[in-house]
Amino acid sequence: MLAKQEEVDQLKAEPAYQTFGNCDIKVPSPCGLIIFGASGDLTRRKILPSLYRLHKHNLLPKSFFVLGVSRTEMTADQFRGLMQMAVKSQFPNDVDDAQWRKFATKLHYSAIDYGAVESYHQTLRKEILELEKRYGTGGNRIFYLAIPPTVYEDVILNLGASDFGQKDRGMTHMVIEKPFGRDLNSARRLNTSLRKFFEEKEIYRIDHYLAMETVQNILMFRFANSIFEPLWNRRYIDHIQITASETLGVEHRAGYYEETGVMRDMFQNHMFQLLALAAMEPPVTFEAESVRSERMRVFHSIMPFPLDKLGDYVVIGQYGRGEMEGNPIPAYREELGVSEKSTTPTFAAMKLFIDNWRWSGVPFYLRSGKRLSAHKTEVSIHFKPVPHQMFFQAMNERIEPNALILRIHPYEGMDLILQAKKPGSKVCLKPVVMDFSYQRDVLMDAYEWVLLDCMHGDHLLFVREDGVEQTWSLLTPVINRLESTTAIGKFPNYAAGSSGPKEAAALIERDGRAWRPL
Ligand code: BG6
Repeated sequence: MLAKQEEVDQLKAEPAYQTFGNCDIKVPSPCGLIIFGASGDLTRRKILPSLYRLHKHNLLPKSFFVLGVSRTEMTADQFRGLMQMAVKSQFPNDVDDAQWRKFATKLHYSAIDYGAVESYHQTLRKEILELEKRYGTGGNRIFYLAIPPTVYEDVILNLGASDFGQKDRGMTHMVIEKPFGRDLNSARRLNTSLRKFFEEKEIYRIDHYLAMETVQNILMFRFANSIFEPLWNRRYIDHIQITASETLGVEHRAGYYEETGVMRDMFQNHMFQLLALAAMEPPVTFEAESVRSERMRVFHSIMPFPLDKLGDYVVIGQYGRGEMEGNPIPAYREELGVSEKSTTPTFAAMKLFIDNWRWSGVPFYLRSGKRLSAHKTEVSIHFKPVPHQMFFQAMNERIEPNALILRIHPYEGMDLILQAKKPGSKVCLKPVVMDFSYQRDVLMDAYEWVLLDCMHGDHLLFVREDGVEQTWSLLTPVINRLESTTAIGKFPNYAAGSSGPKEAAALIERDGRAWRPL
């Protein structure tokens, strides 16, 4: 009984980090963090709660301030109040008032018009210089753009023109949220605007999947163990599956999602980054440029999708009405803010090939969608069957090949599925699972890593200019083709709460394989 109560208490308490010897996390140098989009959803849900956690664990520099910037008029006190509510709603049981008060003294606010250069010259510049003097941050500035993509260019150009891309004082880091463009041309334009004023080493393009601890583990697991790497190739691997399925719908983001769809929202970034980590060659060093170059080489080697028979490689879907946990769920087209004739895909599955020595002929199957039956993110490596089915005759059954499942969410960890003798039988095998779980460890949130790393100036978990353009150049023709050929009558083609359209099952089953259950 007591043990159960302890477990409940542990779950309620905000978890503490574990640090071991050399693995301690370094505190960054003094800096000021200027958040554009400070009244927005991302600041409330992710950025401020993560900053508060870093503060609470003494991982923020002593000389540090946050300047929230957005279009909404409010006082600094109103901003602090809003942020306190936001942090409390993320950690309902564990916001320490004394800690919060200390943290809140570092929070400031300024309302500006993103499109008006005078706002930058006058309001912002004055405010920043004053805070830098007060907090002694040495002119080190991090501009975090958590704003809608439609205002990116305005903010970047106005910041640049106002000499906020200062070269002569402290460091300037530009942090950009996804989506980075909506196709190859817009991504290039955004890169060109950035590069007018900032160097690539000053630019941090976020993909929060790269910053998840369990995603970072893919590299550690592959390259710190010698037993798997010899098998990690076309000779032993039959195929690889990457799944990111969500139970949520579009929530309050219909405006954004209608313009975006699953290909831009999940594939161009998160799914392709997972693919790169699973498929890349060992980098020469565990340093940002080395790792980013290897990720890039994977993108370069992906075979272009054949547009004349796209249906054999890419399947899209949109959810209709359904039921989840006994509750009726409306169709995507019935969500608030969604057109009743919308052809925006909320699901996609694809098969692709990486044309290099290691992966030639090995299919990679990727799928992601909203309103599916389970929330699950995983990479699964499916090994080839044993070459000689010696047990087949005695058992009259095919032996399931081995599989390694890297679980990113939930139940973070990994499973190795092996075959073993079933006790008490003569010749009978059963799959057994060797399971490693992170459940008892405390994982830092992806945004805590993003914030720490952009303060430290470590680019490893961020996307480079060439990476973002290469993934867009692979997907832009596919998206264009799909957008110009998807008829209204095609959707909805899967029920909310199901495992996706039947065409997605057919995509993999045609090859004699099957998706892992969600
Ligand atoms: C975001 C997408 O980047 O990732 C969302 O814009 C999606 O649509 C989310 O829900 C998924 O992230 P996570 O961390 O919940 O797997």
